[in-house]
Amino acid sequence: MVELALPKNSQITGGKIWPKPQGATKLTEFRIYRWNPDDGKNPSIDTYFVNREDCGPMVLDGLIYIKNKIDPTLTFRRSCREGVCGSCAMNIGGTNTLACTRGMDEVLVKGIVNVYPLPHMQVVKDLVPDLTRFYAQHASIEPWLQTDTASPEKEWRQSKEDRERLDGLYECILCACCSTSCPSYWWNGDRYLGPAALLQAHRWLSDSRDERTGARLDNLEDPFRLYRCHTIMNCAQACPKGLNPAKAIAEIKKMMVERQI
Ligand code: SF4
Ligand code: SF4
Ligand code: FES
Repeated sequence: MVELALPKNSQITGGKIWPKPQGATKLTEFRIYRWNPDDGKNPSIDTYFVNREDCGPMVLDGLIYIKNKIDPTLTFRRSCREGVCGSCAMNIGGTNTLACTRGMDEVLVKGIVNVYPLPHMQVVKDLVPDLTRFYAQHASIEPWLQTDTASPEKEWRQSKEDRERLDGLYECILCACCSTSCPSYWWNGDRYLGPAALLQAHRWLSDSRDERTGARLDNLEDPFRLYRCHTIMNCAQACPKGLNPAKAIAEIKKMMVERQI
């Protein structure tokens, strides 16, 4: 389990206990991190009770229930509800994960669903982390096909075997669960690219159609951008898509060594 680490602006004080829904017989308690940049108050933990007979089974269902029926000010991101968009990533029961694919009953700690934003990030509001730097780091690895050869008339072809080399890489949904569970990223996130961006870097280094391998490796050859990974493996444990960024990072380091031989 990933250690619970609080978001950066997190001097937590108090919190409101919201009334239980009337007539409900099956309740699940949620304790949720709240912070509003506009009210000048410290963050707090609010307590809500979700009527399970009127709500789907996932943590995201519970959050939507709270927003629709109890407290419309609760703020969080979500879109697909299918584990595809990555926008509902948060820290639930001490683990970074997707709220839409994690059942409430899977994450109970002493009967309570504890929900925080992704750890060690600045918070925009409540459960919404600021992902500006995370996306800029992704952009910095230039995540698109780059070639010198003139474009073919129809499409860039790839053998079945070469395509299979992208398995375990292309499925990344950029949810940031891995990077925000990585101690090296917590302490050096301004200079270390982190597991998500590096997994994507490896995705393009592994693509048989791409012709900029040398330039891509040059871009990563830096004591901080790549080499702050210490193989702690939190990233692989946190990934809700079952990917292994640590392995991808190790492969990049191997490519660095091999090109010097
Ligand atoms: S293996 Fe590397 S990238 Fe993954 S959590 Fe550890 S230090 Fe971070
Ligand atoms: S590697 Fe996994 S945890 Fe990391 S951003 Fe991609 S999908 Fe999310
Ligand atoms: S809402 Fe899209 S991954 Fe959860």
